[in-house]
Amino acid sequence: MNLARVDGPVHADDPIGVFDSGVGGLSVLNALREALPHERFVYFADTAHAPYGERGDAFVAERSAAVARHLLDAHRIKALVVACNTATAAAIHRLRADHPALPVVGVEPALKPAVALSRTGHIAVLATRVTVESRKFQTLLASLAGQASFSIVACDGLAGAIERSDAARISALCEQYSAAAGCFGSGDGQLDTLVLGCTHYPFIADELRRHTGEAVRFIDTGAPVAQQTRRLLAQAGTQRTEGIGDLCLLSSGAPESLNAAAARWLAATA
Ligand code: DGL
Repeated sequence: MNLARVDGPVHADDPIGVFDSGVGGLSVLNALREALPHERFVYFADTAHAPYGERGDAFVAERSAAVARHLLDAHRIKALVVACNTATAAAIHRLRADHPALPVVGVEPALKPAVALSRTGHIAVLATRVTVESRKFQTLLASLAGQASFSIVACDGLAGAIERSDAARISALCEQYSAAAGCFGSGDGQLDTLVLGCTHYPFIADELRRHTGEAVRFIDTGAPVAQQTRRLLAQAGTQRTEGIGDLCLLSSGAPESLNAAAARWLAATA
């Protein structure tokens, strides 16, 4: 099935749009490029408006709508991956309503996989304030009532520090927020699983690990998002199954920080 579009039919060679407030979505892009090596990607970092996580819902929803519009109009994307928990929480319903024919994939903190993996039943969740206060997250949490205990920390400032590569601030905030979560370990009553509920956080996993110890399992959502994207493209008949994949990096702010983050964190493709 080819989706109708005012400016012509959707084609497998059209790119997949991926966006985040900044560099965090590169962690999702790594998983996407690994799972879908023939696809063409356009990554948009909304750096001029980052971080999203301490803004209001309305602001994040407006920015998400504007970025989606730009990716459709200027880049003819065939699918959109919202590589940002905060934007997913605030805007995914609106994006799907605005673009009913466009496959849209979001990310949310992996609470269900954490419940399945945790042995102690005590799980830490680190995410932005907008995410943890969102109705979407609260609904997900309520659906798991009684299955595990969750220690949820709104990590104000952490995504911003990662955007700026501010090592001293990252280190101080990791110490503060891991202490706020509670006691990590594999013993009874200890937090044995950590959900990285913001796509920026996989890039500071080593720093967090210094506070949690080796036994704690970290969960992020890159791989399941990539699988879901593949499923939706296959359903739409628009998956690109041959040819060399490519990537275009765009930023609403100064391109240098995105380029530096990509050089540091983006996995090389085969
Ligand atoms: N990377 C984003 C997320 O997954 C947003 C971080 C931010 O801009 O505050 O929530």
